[in-house]
Amino acid sequence: MTTQSPTPIHEVVREHYAERIKNKASCCGSSDCCSADSQLYPSDLLATLPEGESTVSYGCGDPITLASLQPGQTVLDLGSGAGLDCFFAAKKVGETGHVIGVDMTPEMIERATSSAERLNIQNVEFRQGYLENLPVESNTVDVIISNCVINLAPDKSKVFAESFRVLKPGGKLAVSDIVTEGPLPEEIKKSLSAWAGCVAGAVEAKEYIEMMKSVGFTEISIVPVFFDKGTVDSAINDMKDMIELKTVAREDVYKAVYSAKITAYKPA
Ligand SMILES: C[S@@+](CC[C@H](N)C(=O)[O-])C[C@H]1O[C@@H](n2cnc3c(N)ncnc32)[C@H](O)[C@@H]1O
Repeated sequence: MTTQSPTPIHEVVREHYAERIKNKASCCGSSDCCSADSQLYPSDLLATLPEGESTVSYGCGDPITLASLQPGQTVLDLGSGAGLDCFFAAKKVGETGHVIGVDMTPEMIERATSSAERLNIQNVEFRQGYLENLPVESNTVDVIISNCVINLAPDKSKVFAESFRVLKPGGKLAVSDIVTEGPLPEEIKKSLSAWAGCVAGAVEAKEYIEMMKSVGFTEISIVPVFFDKGTVDSAINDMKDMIELKTVAREDVYKAVYSAKITAYKPA
């Protein structure tokens, strides 16, 4: 297991999401990406939520469908936020399976834990911790899922090394995340608020693949799903530290930033 002390990026990201969950705001600025909806998830999956339950989502895709979860599996959600993907996963793996959500933001852990209690979901637990130092035993997880989180980590290689450690041999990584094609403008990469908004920390797909390969993952696939104009807009609007960028570079960033579905395996 590696160690992790919070970096300035961790602090900014944690404050950003603590504020979002307290104020019921979305991660992406616009109010319509705050709850689970049919733009991200298929309607049959949404139908598994209790009627009238409006569960908060800060995601950029659907790792649940990508994961093809089976009854009895142990699932780990990296950056579980308010817990939505864990609740979907808990339903899929059933009472013989188990779901662990890890998140560094205490407010997220509290919200996810109280929702699980309210919804009476018993095969899920939430642990506070860093993705770079997972509070999870080695070789114990069948499937790792994650939704719009790895882009936020300052040291993605450490996250992949930890993911590889906790997966069982033959285990699967199924992730929705923001990646780029081509480099982002330097001014954006330097902005901590654009980092917290899921844009500045995104790396090129080929770099993402190289990092996964170097820790041992095989059968790596990155498939673009949609260009994420909404995330780019809200991240740039949020760039209080880089006002001039609100009027320039936007078109270049729209063309570079996309949401992707990513899969990889730990060799059996
Ligand atoms: C964009 S939100 C996504 C939350 C959730 N996956 C969803 O789809 O709603 C990012 C979450 O990841 C957590 N996070 C970001 N970086 C992290 C890190 N290095 N270690 C642990 N949690 C992290 C944040 O606290 C936040 O709850």
